[in-house]
Amino acid sequence: MANGTSTLELDRAGTKPRALIDPFHRAITYLRVSVTDRCDFRCVYCMSEHMTFLPKRDLLTLEELDRLCKAFIDRGVTKLRLTGGEPLVRHGIMTLMSMLSRHLANGALKELTLTTNGSQLEKYASELKARGVERINVSLDTLDPDKFRAITRWGDLGKVLAGIDAAQAAGLHVKINAVALKGVNEDEIGDLLAWAHGRGMDLTVIEVMPLGDVGNTRLDQYLPLSMVRTRLAERYTLEDIDYRTGGPARYVRVNETGGRLGFITPLTHNFCESCNRVRVTCTGTLYMCLGQNDAADLRAPLRSSESNDPLYAAIDEAIARKPKGHDFVIDRRHQRPTLSRHMSVTGG
Ligand SMILES: C[S@@+](CC[C@H](N)C(=O)[O-])C[C@H]1O[C@@H](n2cnc3c(N)ncnc32)[C@H](O)[C@@H]1O
Ligand code: SF4
Repeated sequence: MANGTSTLELDRAGTKPRALIDPFHRAITYLRVSVTDRCDFRCVYCMSEHMTFLPKRDLLTLEELDRLCKAFIDRGVTKLRLTGGEPLVRHGIMTLMSMLSRHLANGALKELTLTTNGSQLEKYASELKARGVERINVSLDTLDPDKFRAITRWGDLGKVLAGIDAAQAAGLHVKINAVALKGVNEDEIGDLLAWAHGRGMDLTVIEVMPLGDVGNTRLDQYLPLSMVRTRLAERYTLEDIDYRTGGPARYVRVNETGGRLGFITPLTHNFCESCNRVRVTCTGTLYMCLGQNDAADLRAPLRSSESNDPLYAAIDEAIARKPKGHDFVIDRRHQRPTLSRHMSVTGG
């Protein structure tokens, strides 16, 4: 059959392809796509300073990424997040956004969004808004320019702040994500919260995850969010709320600011039971769980035929293997990551 449709995967009425349901009855409705493994920063918890990136020829083309995303959307994905590496450094990224925005226009996709380090936002904020993006996540761990440079190695805080200004001016809702780092920004999270909420932005703090060898030990970076919460509670009134985005964050309302604060605690909290998401890398590798190594190659079936039948078969086989949960551990004896790939491969 023609590109983008399938004879195999029609539902009983024969009208539309079946939804993706995993063995634990979770419907997969959220796809995160890492569009590049490259980045203009080298954050200490994410990459080593001297990363070897994939040869460009291994990457899916923009058209292939678009076809892959459409296949997932046809199978019930309603939320798409582009990530990386840094998604806004992928050549032609706005062309891809334009292609993907047609699914918003026809109602198949409820949300098209991205996670960015903000370095290119000043340039792209209004183009994103024009393509139907409503909300974005910007990663920012500190408001101190020197610390920012030390964490990101190559980043410029002023550019990121200008990017956030541009995003808000363009009408995008911005959420700030901050990785909690022992001895680095742990004293500053209260101020980051006051700043974000003061500008109408939610803040989510993230526990550092043991992904990839980044050349220093995780135990040095690891700060349990239970400690962050205890310290914040000395300054703010934190009230547990039911707000969920389908993701791993647990939210509280901060009474003094009226804003929301999220905690992502992969190492200390099991959030897997409601997991609705899978991740695809820029080479077309599908990861069913951020915390497991099992993966499926979608590039070969994608390239093998104009029909989506081989692709759907590979996706079905993979979703049937989606594990119940992850098993992240920081190996305290060897201080090695339990997963060898970097966060920039799957994009978080
Ligand atoms: C890999 S980045 C990709 C998107 C974009 N470059 C950015 O920084 O937002 C996505 C998120 O993962 C987070 N991250 C990277 N490595 C991490 C790690 N080892 N543990 C926890 N979060 C990590 C980053 O802080 C960022 O919020
Ligand atoms: S966290 Fe994002 S900005 Fe930092 S190095 Fe990783 S991909 Fe780049």
